[in-house]
Amino acid sequence: MMLKDKVAVIYGAGGAIGGAVARAFASDGAMLFLTGHELAPVEAVAKDIVSAGGSADAADVDALDEQAVDRHLQSVIDKAGRVDISFNAVGIPDTTILGVPLIELDVEHFSLPIASYTRSYFLTARLAARRMVPNKSGVIMRVTASHSRTGIPLVGGYGPAQAAMEALTRGLSAELAPHGIRVVGLRPQAMPESATIKEAFEPRAEASGMTWEQWLKMLASRTHPRRLMTLEEMANVAVFVASDKASGITGTIVNLTMGSLDD
Ligand SMILES: NC(=O)c1ccc[n+]([C@@H]2O[C@H](COP(=O)([O-])OP(=O)(O)OC[C@H]3O[C@@H](n4cnc5c(N)ncnc54)[C@H](OP(=O)(O)O)[C@@H]3O)[C@@H](O)[C@H]2O)c1
Repeated sequence: MMLKDKVAVIYGAGGAIGGAVARAFASDGAMLFLTGHELAPVEAVAKDIVSAGGSADAADVDALDEQAVDRHLQSVIDKAGRVDISFNAVGIPDTTILGVPLIELDVEHFSLPIASYTRSYFLTARLAARRMVPNKSGVIMRVTASHSRTGIPLVGGYGPAQAAMEALTRGLSAELAPHGIRVVGLRPQAMPESATIKEAFEPRAEASGMTWEQWLKMLASRTHPRRLMTLEEMANVAVFVASDKASGITGTIVNLTMGSLDD
């Protein structure tokens, strides 16, 4: 029970990563406030957690809307008295961005993921930090991707968006760690159980003349254990990082690429 009685807010909790992290946080004893811009998938995760004996509240919150995020955090404080963990797993839809060569991409589509990802992370982190500072305690987390650190074709502004969020993680930590708040990123590689991976990588697989299965094998071959990470493995790391056992980790991104990306 590494997160016993910790109050955690998850953004994008109806998604693959948000849902897996929610379930793992709950089984380690956290009290969960799950959000997404559509209520039904978030409610489904909350229902599973509650049927398994955990504590989870579901709400529809657009993580790009400052007032909505602020109102929801206030409701968490009203119900639970504090917020200990903020986990942003929001994935901005990018089907119109991925697969287009940079020289053919218009500036609006290039800028969209950069503006959206950084806006959502900035808002959720800043508004949570304002509630954490008086308690001199808290953990802020965000998922990024290996695109932040390596050149990958046909991903438009997605790579710059990931790099910007990693830079923001370091900046937030530099300002917040003196107030007892840790800020840590998690950088998993593709986890095949998540539907978004197919959406993100299929255009590149097609452009390389590979089937989807061949593409997954190629990605796995680049890792040290020659396999891709599971959602459960990623979520287990998230539990540790969110817990007091990880009190020495802040201002960094945990590399979960299993060797496919050097530190
Ligand atoms: N899956 C992987 O293997 C992997 C690996 C590395 C990095 N990542 C990154 O991790 C993030 C999450 O990935 P995922 O696979 O979990 O994606 P996902 O399954 O699509 O989940 C993303 C969630 O964010 C929600 N969302 C979108 N816009 C929102 C908004 N404005 N406000 C609140 N919620 C919003 C989505 O809701 P709707 O579905 O209703 O739009 C969805 O529930 C993405 O940034 C992805 O690029 C994923």
